[in-house]
Amino acid sequence: MIKKAIIPAAGYGTRCLPITKVIPKELFPIGMKPAIHYVIDEAIEAGIEEVLIVVSRSKNMITDYFDRSIELETLIEQKKKHQLLEKIKLPDIRIQYTRQSYPLGLGDAVRIGESFVGNEPFAVLLPDEMIFGKDRAALTQLISEYNSHKKSVLGLYEVKQQYLSNYGVVESMQVESKLLIQSIVEKPKKTPPSNFAVIGRYVFTPLLFSYLAKSSESVDGEIQLTDAINEMLKKDKCYGVKIEGSRFDISRLDEYIGANQFVLKS
Ligand code: G1P
Repeated sequence: MIKKAIIPAAGYGTRCLPITKVIPKELFPIGMKPAIHYVIDEAIEAGIEEVLIVVSRSKNMITDYFDRSIELETLIEQKKKHQLLEKIKLPDIRIQYTRQSYPLGLGDAVRIGESFVGNEPFAVLLPDEMIFGKDRAALTQLISEYNSHKKSVLGLYEVKQQYLSNYGVVESMQVESKLLIQSIVEKPKKTPPSNFAVIGRYVFTPLLFSYLAKSSESVDGEIQLTDAINEMLKKDKCYGVKIEGSRFDISRLDEYIGANQFVLKS
């Protein structure tokens, strides 16, 4: 059973400047709801009971968003607009926060969650990737794969060739009905090993932390989750799941608009 998830939300969002000078990317509205709220809903749908959101100094708005606003509730009650209370109801999940004090990258943000996770398998969800699962939430698809072999699982999505250099791209091998990951290349500069990118949904065994502990700064001067996964692959199996659903990288304007259009139509 996977009950805990880490949501790294400490990045500066430099791809989305100037708005990210003041508004965290994780709070970009998709319809009338911030992106990170959809990711929390996805976690709840997948059976997660507790999340750790890794924030940074400038992300206090995220903490405020997932807290009660007694003032607003009182105002709504005084005006007898009780139907609005539903809109500001907090998600039914325990949320904890911790700060990443230095911008050392995704690998470091996940590493910070070690004591929260303990010795259990856990999920990682990146809140700048919106995934509307086809029949089941993306994370549910990963967890059901995890349950069949109890090894780490990476969520994959086919990405157009010209965009592959923005992602971790996998080399994999079909073994009967399963997709065995052989390696990942972080933001490939030359020929990518495939068209399948790792798109921000992961399930890991706690073994990952021993490899993160040994990771040092690499691509972009950051501690890369990809490096730890590659080290883990030398000792343990890891599988991939091609996620069924519609996925949008909200750091890109066209896909950010795409996510809004998707929500508008559904
Ligand atoms: C991170 C990961 C990358 C992954 C991507 C998914 O990159 O390092 O492997 O493909 O998330 O969004 P970032 O977007 O933080 O540069």
